[in-house]
Amino acid sequence: MAEVVIVESADAAGELAAAAIERLVRTKPDAVLGLATGSTPLTTWRALAARGLDLSRVRGFALDEYVGLPPGHPESYRAVIAREVVEPLGLTPSLVRVPGDEGPLKLAGESYERAILEAGGIDLQVLGIGRTGHIGFNEPGSSLASLTRVKTLAEQTRVDNARFFPSIDDVPMHCITQGLGTILRARHLVLLAFGKAKAGPIAAALEGPVSASTPGSVVQLHPRVTVIVDESAAARLAHADYYRHAWDNRLDWER
Ligand code: F6R
Repeated sequence: MAEVVIVESADAAGELAAAAIERLVRTKPDAVLGLATGSTPLTTWRALAARGLDLSRVRGFALDEYVGLPPGHPESYRAVIAREVVEPLGLTPSLVRVPGDEGPLKLAGESYERAILEAGGIDLQVLGIGRTGHIGFNEPGSSLASLTRVKTLAEQTRVDNARFFPSIDDVPMHCITQGLGTILRARHLVLLAFGKAKAGPIAAALEGPVSASTPGSVVQLHPRVTVIVDESAAARLAHADYYRHAWDNRLDWER
């Protein structure tokens, strides 16, 4: 079962996620991180930067990227990752990859999967969840076994991400994203969600049936998942009392 931790704020969640990354990097300085973008992981990057660790050997694989933005566009995930992750955390730019950043797009999925395998796999994958229930940009209907490939964004996702662009018309229609099968291969998933808009998607992902219609539900198939949510995002969890009880009574070796 996933470990579900309900905290009071996005900042508290960021501290917990940063602590998990610090534990990993202390035992493996060249750990491989899976990097989500969007608003959700920002408190994690901030908390991690504040820890002052040497992360120069850490390798990174972005979860996804838009297709069709001109190179260097400030909202491309390549640029967002450089600005919000690589620079503040002191990662080495050449050790961080974004899907679609090399060669023809048609072959980009395969070459990204190969690069992840050659790196020894992703140790810890940071995830957010969209209002459609997507993780990465795996919209409803995505195969639970899917690997990195080009997808069409759901209209809801384009509307949600329009806040980063001058208008909805500027939001790309397509993306390239790690698949649900790619995400399942990571050794540890850390799924974060904040705010009431995420309450439905989180409840469906954690407590609903495992289904391609609810892409986030694929985390139920993974043996090591840490879900960190604030009270608003936890509002529709049927077993919230149990999750709180289990966290309050976690054993010493789990701390
Ligand atoms: C981003 C990603 C998406 C986001 C999700 C939530 O790389 O893969 O799944 O995590 O859309 O976005 P925010 O965090 O902006 O609410």
